[in-house]
Amino acid sequence: MHEPPIAPCFIMTNLAQTELHFREGVRPSDGAAVRNLATATGFFRPDETAVAVELVEERLRDGEKCSYRFLFAELEGGQLVGYTCYGAIPCTIGSFDLYWIIVDPAHQKAGIGRQLMERTEAFVAASGGRQIFIETSSTSRYEPTRSFYRRCGYEQVAELADFYLPGDHKVIFARSVDRPQPRGS
Ligand SMILES: CC(C)(COP(=O)(O)OP(=O)(O)OC[C@H]1O[C@@H](n2cnc3c(N)ncnc32)[C@H](O)[C@@H]1OP(=O)(O)O)[C@@H](O)C(=O)NCCC(=O)NCCS
Repeated sequence: MHEPPIAPCFIMTNLAQTELHFREGVRPSDGAAVRNLATATGFFRPDETAVAVELVEERLRDGEKCSYRFLFAELEGGQLVGYTCYGAIPCTIGSFDLYWIIVDPAHQKAGIGRQLMERTEAFVAASGGRQIFIETSSTSRYEPTRSFYRRCGYEQVAELADFYLPGDHKVIFARSVDRPQPRGS
């Protein structure tokens, strides 16, 4: 099926203005590209990276039957520099989870993460979604990630004590996408 084009935007990388392109469709090469991206961050354990790749492979195998959806951000020439993986939460009406967001470390702090977030939110809203949840860790290692979520307008709505490990709580952020909301102040 032919995908409608998604409008590109411009970002500044290495002091040069670069066009950023977006696509939803998953390609066979995306598994390896996502593995490279996750590994390059130095942020994820091998088992976590394996899960990220499995979700790509599941989508490739099952197509529309698979509830995991993707948004990929690429530079001109096709280099993958970031992506989101998200999906509707079963047995809810309009609640979605953002499972993954990763931006290539070489291109972080250039606005790519925000673009991915905003476009993912627009897709969720267009699919009848009301709110997006994101789960993360309470540890100091994840403080930059939590700051990013707050800057993107997400609020902490819950904390599950000792969820991952004693002292490592699960923090849940949420944002409504069906009505305008201010982004980080
Ligand atoms: C978190 C991540 C996706 C952010 O991507 P990014 O492209 O660098 O983010 P942007 O440049 O679009 O930044 C958006 C906002 O978040 C803020 N932000 C981004 N990274 C930040 C950091 N490390 N510390 C504090 N704030 C940060 C920016 O300052 C910006 O705020 P502003 O526009 O209000 O000034 C990226 O750092 C990343 O991939 N991290 C490793 C993987 C990860 O943690 N993923 C989430 C768990 S799956």
